[in-house]
Amino acid sequence: MIELVFATNNKHKLQEIKAVVGDKFNILSLAEIGCTKDIPETADALEGNASIKSRYVFDNYGKNCFADDTGLEIEALDGKPGVYSARYAGPGHDHQKNMDKVLNELRNQNNRAAQFRTVICLIIDGKEMFFDGIVKGTILTEKHGDKGFGYDPIFQPEGYDVSFAEMDLEAKNKISHRGRAVQKLIEYLKLL
Ligand code: IMP
Repeated sequence: MIELVFATNNKHKLQEIKAVVGDKFNILSLAEIGCTKDIPETADALEGNASIKSRYVFDNYGKNCFADDTGLEIEALDGKPGVYSARYAGPGHDHQKNMDKVLNELRNQNNRAAQFRTVICLIIDGKEMFFDGIVKGTILTEKHGDKGFGYDPIFQPEGYDVSFAEMDLEAKNKISHRGRAVQKLIEYLKLL
């Protein structure tokens, strides 16, 4: 089995990747390698933050690793909240406040085009590789649904008439930014 650290302690993300990666890989969380540090995400781009997290693990633990970072990019807001999605309305990481801020900023805006983008940085033997996944859609005028997390209630993916928060997790994962980026990562890992 090939050991690979996923630089996260998010149980949902770990479960998601373990389910699809197959038995060739032993995926370890940060906790499982004894890393308790909250690695600071100080870059101004998703690529930078994903790189900081996986580089931290490789440099300090000598283990092959990957990390992800996601942002909601809204066209009329010049790509904001982007890399600042988690803390758009302040350091509290409050999803409701973040959504309220977006809805308020788009109040009189006809262009509601947006996309979620995930970037994964994989480091194998010190060499970095990036994989991305995008889902395009629109920002609704109000919140719909109570599934999912983050901006899901105000994001409607292209080709659907419901928000992400009204979709089952399985249906969302099939078309989501993270699902698509993970798929590219897995295709690559299968070649190893
Ligand atoms: P992270 O990089 O996965 O931690 O994501 C950063 C932020 O982007 C989260 O705190 C959420 O606000 C938002 N986000 C990421 N993925 C999703 C998603 O699938 N749905 C809604 N919001 C998301």
